[in-house]
Amino acid sequence: MPELDTSVPHEARVYDYLLGGKSNYGVDREAGDAILQVTPQMPVWAKQNRQFLKRAVRFVAGEGIDQFLDIGTGLPTVENTHEVALAANPAARVVYTDYDPMVLAHARVLLDAADSTAYLQHDLRQPDELIADARELLDFDRPIAVMLVAVLHHLRDEESPEVHVRRILDAVPAGSYLVLSHATYDFLTPSYAAELHEVLSHSPMTFRARSRDEVQDAFLTGGLDVVPPGLVATTEWRMDNGDIGTTPDTSQAGHWAAVARKTG
Ligand SMILES: C[S@@+](CC[C@H](N)C(=O)[O-])C[C@H]1O[C@@H](n2cnc3c(N)ncnc32)[C@H](O)[C@@H]1O
Repeated sequence: MPELDTSVPHEARVYDYLLGGKSNYGVDREAGDAILQVTPQMPVWAKQNRQFLKRAVRFVAGEGIDQFLDIGTGLPTVENTHEVALAANPAARVVYTDYDPMVLAHARVLLDAADSTAYLQHDLRQPDELIADARELLDFDRPIAVMLVAVLHHLRDEESPEVHVRRILDAVPAGSYLVLSHATYDFLTPSYAAELHEVLSHSPMTFRARSRDEVQDAFLTGGLDVVPPGLVATTEWRMDNGDIGTTPDTSQAGHWAAVARKTG
């Protein structure tokens, strides 16, 4: 579990910087600026990802889900999972988990605001511990929305992200949902992708963009029914009228997105 370290950039704080937040340090802004130099539209990708999160939470709440396990929560920003879930269903319960201690510190503010919300500091690479603690707060005999939004690209292939995801999905009953988004270079030209890859590969943060096939094969197989419109760009997933860029424009997307129902 990482300690609060302000001498190296952390994913949550760089992401916060890209979203225009204030919960970040000089090192995070430096890492963010290096990315922005090559990819000035990264903040748009991040916003589109947040908008997907909002629409997906609203969708699964509409399907009757009232328990949410949001893994790799990130720093609080606008329209956090619990706000969207509670607006859809005031009886909803949300458990946030992230491995970054700064997220925990900020989450205390969130927790004050909502009794129905809890926060656990966990690394998803230790899924059994995460599940054991989440069991204290959520009823694992009833369907749960497992949210892995913009987090799995922070795991290298050698860390077997698909095994951890499977472990977590095995713990929830049929009728549960997986809400997933994952960074990709698929929407970029090859030369642009190579340039961005070069910057990110020199960053102390792990960033493993995956192709659509890689996301599909690693995370969306075995007893999962992907709901329409399928595994698509964030900008193609059930856009709302109020969203930025209301047309499904993949040039505004940096992530693949899907919602899947566990069938067995
Ligand atoms: C890009 S942010 C995404 C935040 C939010 N889910 C969203 O989509 O807006 C990625 C988050 O994943 C967290 N994270 C990265 N690796 C993790 C791991 N192994 N276990 C738990 N959280 C992790 C980071 O601390 C960061 O808060």
